[in-house]
Amino acid sequence: MSNKKELLWQSRFSLPFDRDALRFSSSVHVDKALFREDIQGSTAHVTMLAEEGIITPEEARQIIAGLREIETELETEALVPHWEDEDIHTVIENRLKEKIGAAAGKIHSGRSRNDQVATDTRLYLRRQIRTLDAALHGLQKILVSKADACKETIIFGYTHLQRAQPISAGHYYLAYFNMFRRDRDRLADLFRRVNISPLGAAAFAGSTLPLNTERSAVLLDFDGVFSNSIDAVSDRDIVIEFISACSMIMMHLSRFAEDLILWSSYEFGYLEISDAFATGSSLMPQKKNADIAELVRGKTGRVYGSLVSMLTIMKGLPLSYNRDMQEDKPPLFDSAETTIECVSIFGKLLEHTTLREERLAKLTAEDLSLATEIAEYLVRKQMPFRDAHRVTGRIVSHSIASGKTLPNITLEEYRTFSTLFENDIYLSLKPEASIRAKKSRGSCSFSSVEAQLEEARKLL
Ligand code: ARG
Repeated sequence: MSNKKELLWQSRFSLPFDRDALRFSSSVHVDKALFREDIQGSTAHVTMLAEEGIITPEEARQIIAGLREIETELETEALVPHWEDEDIHTVIENRLKEKIGAAAGKIHSGRSRNDQVATDTRLYLRRQIRTLDAALHGLQKILVSKADACKETIIFGYTHLQRAQPISAGHYYLAYFNMFRRDRDRLADLFRRVNISPLGAAAFAGSTLPLNTERSAVLLDFDGVFSNSIDAVSDRDIVIEFISACSMIMMHLSRFAEDLILWSSYEFGYLEISDAFATGSSLMPQKKNADIAELVRGKTGRVYGSLVSMLTIMKGLPLSYNRDMQEDKPPLFDSAETTIECVSIFGKLLEHTTLREERLAKLTAEDLSLATEIAEYLVRKQMPFRDAHRVTGRIVSHSIASGKTLPNITLEEYRTFSTLFENDIYLSLKPEASIRAKKSRGSCSFSSVEAQLEEARKLL
């Protein structure tokens, strides 16, 4: 069976394109998401063509008016793209022909779908980078307010998922703030490479028509124009970089999600997720699960998968354009949508969590995680750190064997380990004193957290 609709390239063939082959190669179901970008790109192209005298002002006017109508039709779904149209570019051009007749054919002067789709992709990336950046900015604002609200709350800091040292909860939230700060920085850097116009590269070799590529770039608000027409149509680095930036964001979210999942478990019991953001079990009535965090963690795998897809699609492609490259859109769109959605929902999830302060205060006050304070106490009394570490290790053993918490060991007992111990050791054995005493830059001390908050607020 053959297809019925006219394709853009069919005249040199004596047989109509096989229907199954068309269905297989059609990308409409995916690239219809680019209709706004496609119309924006075409409008700029046609404006330039008219300015350069390649088409008449009247033809440009008709085309642009038609495109505007088509945009509304697509928005309102008065026009529903059909797979038989091969791709969104064809959908729009065919509809334009129905509307304005022969002049529609002039839209493609000096252009190929290769530079057209590269342009659309860059416009899409530009839009999604901005949306993602705004979502990250929102998440950072939530982190700053969380950090501010719990800057005096003491939690355990972990290494190897073993309790390590007490820290201010604000310090913990600000660690994530910094990760998302780097993520935003990466997006800003990528934006510079994205915002280059490929329009005018045509199929890959340029055009004999007097195209003003600088002008179409300006009309589309690009910051620059391609240098090499082959590279312009065959470059998908920006897609790979974008998905890589998304992967990094998702990795950060996934680590955060993991903390929330662990901390909200009965075993940790540090954190309560509000009922509005938790799920239950259809079988076990007592369950309260952190599904939202788990889904973020799970979706991270999807985004990583897209990154590997894109790298693999591009590997070994001979220059310049190859149809393989049409396969860039599902991973690109999915990564962008997934990451934006996850960043947004994660902020809301955070707003629906509270630290269980009482329990944390009790746990941190009695814990061996104050052992480092003992070692540093001895160092302040001039004991070499290696010796202090050894002495403290023995005290920890004693604490475990005797069942006495560090603050409950008597001074007499402490002095059997070192005569440097005096009554002031007990001042160090309070989590808040331990935190307050931290002096180094960017540490977990309350004053450092305050300074970090100050810096974060300035950045926002
Ligand atoms: N739908 C195609 C894509 O997204 C458009 C480019 C078609 N170009 C070609 N030479 N067949 O890649």
